[in-house]
Parts: sequence; structure tokens; C-alpha cells
Amino acid sequence: MRAVLCRAWGGPETLTIEEVATPEPGPGEVRIRVLAAGVNFPDVLIIQKKYQVQPPLPFTPGAEIAGEVEAAGPGTTLRPGTRVAGFCSLGGFAEQVVVAESACIALPDAVGMEQAASLLLAYGTSWHALRDRALLRAGETLLVLGAGGGVGLAAVDIGHAMGARVVAAASSAAKLAAAVEYGAAATIDTGEASLRDAIARTCGKAGPDVIYDPVGGDLTEPAFRSIAWGGRHLVVGFAAGATPSIALNLPLLKGASLVGVFWGGFARHQPHEQRAETEEMMSWLAAGRLRPKVSRRYRLADVATALTDMAERRVIGKVVIVP
Ligand SMILES: NC(=O)c1ccc[n+]([C@@H]2O[C@H](COP(=O)([O-])OP(=O)(O)OC[C@H]3O[C@@H](n4cnc5c(N)ncnc54)[C@H](OP(=O)(O)O)[C@@H]3O)[C@@H](O)[C@H]2O)c1
Repeated sequence: MRAVLCRAWGGPETLTIEEVATPEPGPGEVRIRVLAAGVNFPDVLIIQKKYQVQPPLPFTPGAEIAGEVEAAGPGTTLRPGTRVAGFCSLGGFAEQVVVAESACIALPDAVGMEQAASLLLAYGTSWHALRDRALLRAGETLLVLGAGGGVGLAAVDIGHAMGARVVAAASSAAKLAAAVEYGAAATIDTGEASLRDAIARTCGKAGPDVIYDPVGGDLTEPAFRSIAWGGRHLVVGFAAGATPSIALNLPLLKGASLVGVFWGGFARHQPHEQRAETEEMMSWLAAGRLRPKVSRRYRLADVATALTDMAERRVIGKVVIVP
């Protein structure tokens, strides 16, 4: 089978596509024929040795896939031919991948492969963030930073479905248009001179009740200074590169919380809750209540272009690799 290989730490251009042995599933595992693989920001970081997990070389990147079960190892219940989405951490940018059965979920007929490959990580993170960590309530104002990206647009979609008033902040007209399409009631161009003025104008004098922040960098502090009394600022990621620092008098003065969000840790520490949430999300997707936006498809041979587009902020919503 063909697979993308990271043989040396470096940028997307250093990846190779090679013929490798078909992997065999062990106990509790299934082999899946990959029909779509979701691209996520950690894929950009992991090949450059900039991610918290550093696998031994060589490895195949790609954390989540959707496809058909081809072979099932001992002790499994999924049968060949079953359509599934799976979280594999690594190995997804390939024609076949072996995944723990416990990390797979069967797909309802109404769910297509590309949307299924875009759900687990981005929607799982934003669902966990808004529902479990922020306890977002209908009628509250939710400010989403990086609202045109993968987790950001998922937060817009989920926040809108939960009945929040969503304000989307992003760097381009196309990203803001996507956020409006997914339910944002107001938008902020983060290129504007003053983020605080823009937040005051769009979120009202009280400020946002919940801030969803996958960007970090220079956006975090002005956003947090604008938060409402009793607000919750969700620390999701640092796509801008810099991990910001916040003076602790700010949460004190606002009676506000800085709330960490870590989907991988949630899956590790609370696997049953995480599984239940994935099943509920899948049922919302099948019912059309969630709509992952897949804005572009790339062939396996074009994986470097996909990762470069993501690193250079050109991706809107989700993009997938179709082997
Ligand atoms: N905590 C968790 O469990 C968890 C789970 C999944 C992902 N994450 C993190 O969430 C962040 C976003 O992931 P994603 O998959 O949604 O990525 P993405 O689709 O690339 O979105 C990231 C957004 O960040 C903004 N950005 C600002 N400066 C950037 C820069 N220098 N390079 C790239 N993007 C920049 C961009 O929006 P503008 O152009 O509008 O500024 C971009 O749309 C990453 O840091 C990722 O590691 C965390």
C-alpha cells in the first residue's frame, strides 16, 4: 500500500510517498481502507518535532480517518465492510491503517466519509470545550477566535446549535463569510486596529460570556480583558505560535475563569464520557444538526500542499486527504 512517510524532521516538503507493507490488525484492532483522512494543525507540528508527542522516525502522520473495515483482529466485533470513522493518532495519511476498535465509531448511512473524517478531533474538541468546560448556555454570547479554522468553525457551528449568540473573529473576508454561513451573528476582522473596540462593538458593553481561543499570540490578552463578569475563556491552542501569559489580577477583577481544554486528555482520563459524546455528536451529524465544512480535498501525493496550506492560514473549515 502507499503511505506518506516522515523520515526526517522538517517541513511538509520533506515528506515522501512510499510503498510499504500492509499492516495487520492485532487483538482489539481493525484494519481500515482509508477513504478520507482529516487534516489537523497538529499534523503540521508533529512532522517538525514541534508537537508534544514526538514519535520515532520514520512514521506516517494523519490522526483521524474514515473508511471501511477490511480485516478484524481477535476479540473485535466490527465486521469487514462496516463504514467507520476512527482516531488513529498516526498513520492516517495512507491507503490502509490499523486502528484500535475502541477508537472507531460506526457511521450512520446518512454520514459521508469526508464529513466523518472531519468530525472526531475538531468537533470533539469544540463540543467538549463548549459543553463540558464552558457550560455554555443558550442566549449567552460566545466569541470564537480563529473562527474560520477547523476547531474554530466547529465551535461556531456547535455554539449556534446550542442557542448561543456567536461572534466570529478571523483574519479574512472568506473566513468570516464561512462563519456567517455557519451561524455567526456578527463578525470581527482581526486585522482591525483595536480588538477590544471591535469586541465592545459586536459583543455589547458587558462583553462575551465565553471566549473560544485556539489562536493565542497577541489575541488572548485583549480578548480576555474584554470578557464579561463571570466569563469563561477557553484555552484551546496556540496556532499563532506564541503561548501568551496573563496577569492573574485580570481573572480576579473579572470574576472570570481561564479554562483549559484538552481533547486527548479527556479521551484518556474519561473514555466513557468521551465515547458517549462522540456518539451524540454523530447522531447530531446524521440528523443535519452539525455540518462540518470540507472546503478542499487533496490526493495522497499532494499531502505536502495540504499541510503547507494549513501552516500558511489558507484553510477554511476542514480539508481532507482522499487516498
Ligand atoms: N486543545 C485541544 O484539545 C486541541 C484539539 C485540536 C486542535 N487544537 C489546537 O487548536 C489550534 C487550531 O487547530 P485547527 O486544526 O483548527 O487549525 P487551523 O484550521 O489551521 O486553524 C487555526 C487558525 O488559527 C489562526 N492563526 C493565527 N495565526 C496563525 C499562524 N501563525 N499559523 C496558523 N494559523 C494561525 C488562523 O485563523 P486566522 O487566519 O483567522 O487568524 C487559523 O484559521 C491548534 O493550535 C491546534 O493544535 C487543540
